[in-house]
Amino acid sequence: MKNFDFLVIGSGIAGLVYALQVSKYGKVAIVTKKKIYNCTTDYAQGGMAVVLNKEDSFTEHVNDTFIVGGEIGKKNVIRKIVEEGPKGMQYLIELGTKFTKKNIHRNYSFENLSLTKEGGHSHHRIAHAADSTGHEIMIALIQNCKENDNISIFEDHLAIDLITQHHILQNEEFIPNRTCWGAYVLDQKTGDIAIFRAKKTMLSTGGGGQVYANSTNPDIATGDGYAMAKLAGARIANMEFVQFHPTAFYSPEGKTFLVTEALRGEGAILKLADGSTFMEKYHPKKCLAPRDVVARAIEHELRVSGKKCLYLDATKIDHDKLKNHFPYVNKKCKEYGIDFTKEPIPIVPAAHYFCGGVLATVDGMTDIKNLFASGEVACTGLHGANRLASNSLLEALVISMRAGNHPLNTEEVNFPKIPEWQNVGNFNENEWVVISHNREIINTIMQGYVGIKRSRRLLKYAADRIFNIYNEINNFYQHNPVRPEVIETRNLAIVASIIIRSALSRKESRGLHSIIDYPERDDKNYLKDTIIS
Ligand code: FUM
Repeated sequence: MKNFDFLVIGSGIAGLVYALQVSKYGKVAIVTKKKIYNCTTDYAQGGMAVVLNKEDSFTEHVNDTFIVGGEIGKKNVIRKIVEEGPKGMQYLIELGTKFTKKNIHRNYSFENLSLTKEGGHSHHRIAHAADSTGHEIMIALIQNCKENDNISIFEDHLAIDLITQHHILQNEEFIPNRTCWGAYVLDQKTGDIAIFRAKKTMLSTGGGGQVYANSTNPDIATGDGYAMAKLAGARIANMEFVQFHPTAFYSPEGKTFLVTEALRGEGAILKLADGSTFMEKYHPKKCLAPRDVVARAIEHELRVSGKKCLYLDATKIDHDKLKNHFPYVNKKCKEYGIDFTKEPIPIVPAAHYFCGGVLATVDGMTDIKNLFASGEVACTGLHGANRLASNSLLEALVISMRAGNHPLNTEEVNFPKIPEWQNVGNFNENEWVVISHNREIINTIMQGYVGIKRSRRLLKYAADRIFNIYNEINNFYQHNPVRPEVIETRNLAIVASIIIRSALSRKESRGLHSIIDYPERDDKNYLKDTIIS
């Protein structure tokens, strides 16, 4: 058994900020299933939305967030997060994050930060580090965590299950209120499963984009946090609201990467294969309309034209500006033989961000005592039915700072006797196909039946098929020693089923949930969250 005061599951901005904050109270373990950089934060290109400009205001940022979110976000939560943005920004700068400056010879004062604009924002308020904002933030956070004597980092460690009452032996006395005492964690190098016991656990596992065939997310985004929280008894909200990013790079082999929305902020234009524009037909803000509008417009144009991709034309932007602001996109395009200063970039929409998640307060508290959640895995009420671009780094930062300073962190905890993990059976190579095939099938079903445009009939087909797949995987899980692929595939099946259940229960179209049977918004009945317990 490994004993810590704090267990952090996941190594993106949400996890590392919480770890740094609580390290002043005790020993912290960060477990991450690959290397510390393998997290969605590291992929964030565009930036972090913060009100830093004198012409801008908190109220406008709150309104933009609420309107884009289909008016079901929680205004009080949005306001708290938005208002704490500058404090969070200052913290990241103090940790050493190298945001892009207007004048490189001056310091990192707010007035000297380069601010860009993205879809749905009424002002320039996206602070960024060229087009690798997440990576720059990670460099600063990792360095600070590594230099901190109270923080231990466990790479290649996959959390399997949160430890709550359901693991506790029958002869323990009754413990009221669902409580978390850490997690069972698989060391992927040795195959050992250890108890990581902790007074507080932070779930910061990121999202689950890998449930779809086309995703901008890294491989690690298999929805582990949603699944673990669900199995432990936490409520999950708003999972029907899956954000598809309008512009993921299209390659015929299916490989993709994000082409940041900031390119459109700087003037890049969406075009059809014949070079004509089309966004003026869909929204007055054209290419800078909210993401759901742009993604649906692209999908529609793809369907009616029968083409495999559309194009993002950045050739009219000053070439030096393009190369300086977007070195990552430039490099990635070149790998695929595209010079974005001379030719348009082929793009398609791809699953990008889950607006829903484990229900959490603005301090990160969940239904389960001593379990916090922050970042994409959490649903705090900021995003509502659609996330405003670049609000996710902001949310993760603010919630983790608040969680890390919550009085609960210093509260003592009585631990029950926690049993060791019991591995079962001998590995059945013959049935391994259950895992390898089903992961692909989940991807295909979700992409085809639970994508940007939905119908109840296809959702019901998807529900039946995912139900059977989950049973097959779970059966394998219960009769074989644990392997990472099994855990991840089971988690994907659980996430898929939560998304489908949520989508079926919302009989209206709002934000990212667009369903042909109910094409209109229904404020009378659905001005509320979808909650799965
Ligand atoms: O387009 C982007 O750079 C993505 C930003 C975001 O998802 O917030």
